[in-house]
Amino acid sequence: MLIIANWKLNGNWSFNEEYASALSNGLRGVDLTSRQIIICPPSIYLQQMNGLLVDQEIYLGGQDLSDETAGAFTGEISGVMLKEFGCRYVLVGHSERRLKYQESNELIVKKALNAIAAGLKPVVCIGETQEQRQSLQAEKVLSEQMTALIDGLGQQIEQIVLAYEPIWAIGTGQTASALQAQEVHALLRGMLEKVSPLVAQNMQIIYGGSVKAENAEELLRMSDIDGLLVGGASLVVAEFLSICTANRAT
Ligand code: PGA
Repeated sequence: MLIIANWKLNGNWSFNEEYASALSNGLRGVDLTSRQIIICPPSIYLQQMNGLLVDQEIYLGGQDLSDETAGAFTGEISGVMLKEFGCRYVLVGHSERRLKYQESNELIVKKALNAIAAGLKPVVCIGETQEQRQSLQAEKVLSEQMTALIDGLGQQIEQIVLAYEPIWAIGTGQTASALQAQEVHALLRGMLEKVSPLVAQNMQIIYGGSVKAENAEELLRMSDIDGLLVGGASLVVAEFLSICTANRAT
């Protein structure tokens, strides 16, 4: 099970120090064998966080990476650089990047392939807007996003984590209900049958969109939800700690 904190454009030197120490203390003695906790701070703070989280099994992830590997690409950060600064994971194709920075399915595939080549696990985000959901287009949009991943990544799709993040639920306080999320996760798993039953079965599909301490447990109880991607609630360390330790009833 993966619990990922996406800090987005938040954090600063002293906040990070306090957060890392509270998180480490809070997780001391907690059995983390069945779950991985991953923090995705702004990339400029990766080195600081890498130094602060040394004796705890808390992993780091980037929030984005370049579709290029090196050269004259001002402002970009490569997968190899993220890896060098302690990342194991990287978010790819978050809806904020798809919408605000016009990232296409094609670009997202390139970024995911770069991440894999650099030895990182890409957490590839997909999801539909409110408008698409209301006009009953959600399934079509998700299927297009999935087809782009399946065709573009080929067999390497087995190297990714898939994050279902309905855009209408991100930062809005409007969470998909556990059953709504489960329904989509099962649909996505079904689409992966096209690649192979084994890939479908093994794919980690995590949910994101207004996850909080109060709904984490219910979401994690769903059979096709393999983890959570947490934005706003991950910035409050006590809240994030309860999400990290939410029990998964079997
Ligand atoms: P949120 O963000 O938890 O604040 O809705 C989730 C995300 O964007 O990853």
